[in-house]
Amino acid sequence: MAEISSFAPGRVELLGNHTDYNEGLVLSAAIHLGITVTGKGVASDRVHLQSRQIAPPWEGDLKEELRAQKIWADYPRGIAWALQKEGWAIEGFEAQFDSTLPVGAGLSSSAAIEVATAVFLCRLFHFTLSPLKLAKLCRKAENEFVGVQCGLLDQVSSLFGKKNHAIFLDCRHERIETIPFLNNTVLLVIHSGVPHALTGGEYNDRRRDCFEAARLLEVTALRDVSSEQVLQLPEGQIRKRALHITGENERVSKGVDLLREGDVCQFGALMTASHRSSQENFENSTPALDLLVELSLNQPHVYGARLTGGGFGGAIVALVPQSVAQQVAENITRTYFQRTGYSAKAVVCKIADGAR
Ligand code: GLA
Repeated sequence: MAEISSFAPGRVELLGNHTDYNEGLVLSAAIHLGITVTGKGVASDRVHLQSRQIAPPWEGDLKEELRAQKIWADYPRGIAWALQKEGWAIEGFEAQFDSTLPVGAGLSSSAAIEVATAVFLCRLFHFTLSPLKLAKLCRKAENEFVGVQCGLLDQVSSLFGKKNHAIFLDCRHERIETIPFLNNTVLLVIHSGVPHALTGGEYNDRRRDCFEAARLLEVTALRDVSSEQVLQLPEGQIRKRALHITGENERVSKGVDLLREGDVCQFGALMTASHRSSQENFENSTPALDLLVELSLNQPHVYGARLTGGGFGGAIVALVPQSVAQQVAENITRTYFQRTGYSAKAVVCKIADGAR
């Protein structure tokens, strides 16, 4: 059988941290790094999955009940599981995965592997699903098979990315729009060297706090309230969590206008404000991420910086003029190493098209 291949990018979250599962607003962008799947159908029910970066390979039979095994192959297996649940017939296949995305860097390698697998299987077995249906199917695999209660941000970003455009996502109305990104600026992503793992309990704890705040405020989701309304809650952890979400929704709304106006300085300031809220309210930053943000802001020309993705480790994103990006990256990683002994990895990200 003929080989086919698919590619799905990672993403950078620009504004709208942890808003997706609160039916809120997000701004993100797909990047030039991602995961490629190459493979073909085989004349049996066997499935063989192999990664160039992570061992061991996985081999099994799709007729047996699929259960997560806490291994990398759970992500592609979860997609096969979700497609089968939807009634699509999947036969035997082999697939090799090759990634240019650093794992655990908050650039959503998990959505990239899910989306790449979904696109690959749809082509291999001639299924047609709309991009939004595919995004939701990937989220279902991650929620119900892998067991991480993520929202829709990562999968939508990987599927709907557009070169040099930010992606606006309204999670309640499932409305997606691409907006031209700021001219002559780049996204400098710096991985702290301390991996994050969303399979840890913190992500699901934050989710619970947000739902509790919505319950106390007697609304369906935090999307329904403003920061001013949240201030009616008694002081404490639940109020702080909710203030992060409402603040982020408000920053995304402002951010969309600023992108349209091309106001790079104010957009950068919103990114920094987002990080401050992560530090003070959501407590999903770490000393390493805080240091990277401070080192970025100490550099002349940097417009703003924040953690990107779930938090609790991973990466930051700084908004930087293209002309100085490489120099800024070197300055930050050098000082970071002197201060911590960790090697941070900086990537000047190009905003790229979504999965193909
Ligand atoms: C992770 C999740 C996303 C989103 C972000 C935080 O990347 O997978 O769904 O919740 O964290 O904004």
